[in-house]
Amino acid sequence: MANDVRTHLIGLLLGAEEDWPRAFESILGMVGPIKAGGQTHTLASERVRIHPFDLTDPVRHGLVIDRLAYWYYHPREWLKKASLMDDTYLLNSPFTFQAMEKHSAYVAMLRLGMKIPKTVLVPYKNPVDNVRWAYTASRYNDPFDLESIAEEVGYPLYMKPFDGGGWRGVSRVDDVEGLHRSYDESGNMLMHLQATIDYDHFARALSIGPETMVMDFRPGEPMHSRYAVTHDFLSPQAGWEAETVSKVVNAFFGWEFNSAEMLVKGDEVHPIDYANACPDVALTSLHYYFPWAITALVRWSAYCMVTGRQSFIGVRSPRAYFDVADDPDRSYTEKMQAYRRLADEEFETDRYWEWCEQHLPHLPERVLEWVGSDDFDRLLVDTVTATYPEHEHEQFLAHFRGLTGMWMNDQSHDLGA
Ligand SMILES: Nc1ncnc2c1ncn2[C@@H]1O[C@H](COP(=O)(O)OP(=O)(O)OP(=O)(O)O)[C@@H](O)[C@H]1O
Ligand SMILES: [Mg+2]
Repeated sequence: MANDVRTHLIGLLLGAEEDWPRAFESILGMVGPIKAGGQTHTLASERVRIHPFDLTDPVRHGLVIDRLAYWYYHPREWLKKASLMDDTYLLNSPFTFQAMEKHSAYVAMLRLGMKIPKTVLVPYKNPVDNVRWAYTASRYNDPFDLESIAEEVGYPLYMKPFDGGGWRGVSRVDDVEGLHRSYDESGNMLMHLQATIDYDHFARALSIGPETMVMDFRPGEPMHSRYAVTHDFLSPQAGWEAETVSKVVNAFFGWEFNSAEMLVKGDEVHPIDYANACPDVALTSLHYYFPWAITALVRWSAYCMVTGRQSFIGVRSPRAYFDVADDPDRSYTEKMQAYRRLADEEFETDRYWEWCEQHLPHLPERVLEWVGSDDFDRLLVDTVTATYPEHEHEQFLAHFRGLTGMWMNDQSHDLGA
């Protein structure tokens, strides 16, 4: 039995990024053989190549972290084949992201009672490009009064695509003129009108499996300083709620690597954007939080592979959540607590942390050492060189060295080193 070795291959399906894959490969190298369930497990990773495939070709990857399939259909269909045919575990599964975009995510979380701002979906500004549409439109389209809808939502409002991402087509509308301008410009995009939340804090929570980091986000700042390093920027209640929203969204939709954006006013948490198939994990935006994020990706991948966690194919049944949501005797807080329990069950949170304690107890210290090494500094230099013009290299190197150094101080303190 002692010789029974299983090798798990993790595929990285990548776009232009170099920073986090290199970090992932380095940290995965620290995982070492894991003895569990009478077997010895080793983990390796590989950057996935794109080429024609027969639908019956075997897939070698036990798990794939996907950063590409949201935009490119060939790798997307390969992922779906790998999932259906070979049980490949996907972070994230395109099945759910194709079915549940921003709009369905709003609707589902509204039903759960979350504080989504008032949102109205209006028909396309420009007719659909299909000769038969003119007949349908003239026969069945109700005329509507955009101005009175906007009035009801209230100014200022946000107009944004139902399936948005990356600020595409988002505008803030202050008055009737702006309303018509934005709607005219929306053309073939299908738009939401959404009430503006006047907030004290913008919380952005990144969740990877059962791990969540709630970060203080400042959308008006340039990329490199959007995430402020301010712990406890929310009250304990709002902090718990922001973390819960992110976990519940992910458990509900089957998303395991996702970020949730929430606007926080006092203790009220309003989720506004939480369907991000390809969340930002760039070293130059996450800086201080980068080592945590990549360690979490490694930990969760290792846990899924070694424990043989089965991936879920398709869209999950929301019933358990709706049973809570539809219970008139539960308050908002009681509902959120119940959803949080369901989410923790889904992600096996307790078992996960026990497993990490048992099989990866050395990892935090090794990662800390690595972040202090020349190897990490080279990664930082390469990333800064590739991202910024030459005259800014020195300034940004100092900036990110400072922030990762700060993480190292905090981490050594936490580890009692
Ligand atoms: N209801 C709202 N109230 C206040 N601000 C909002 C609201 N909706 C959107 N915004 C602002 O507009 C920005 C973009 O909106 P949203 O996140 O929904 O679009 P997106 O295309 O997903 O953008 P990104 O990829 O940057 O997250 C938000 O980061 C926020 O600053
Ligand atoms: Mg957003």
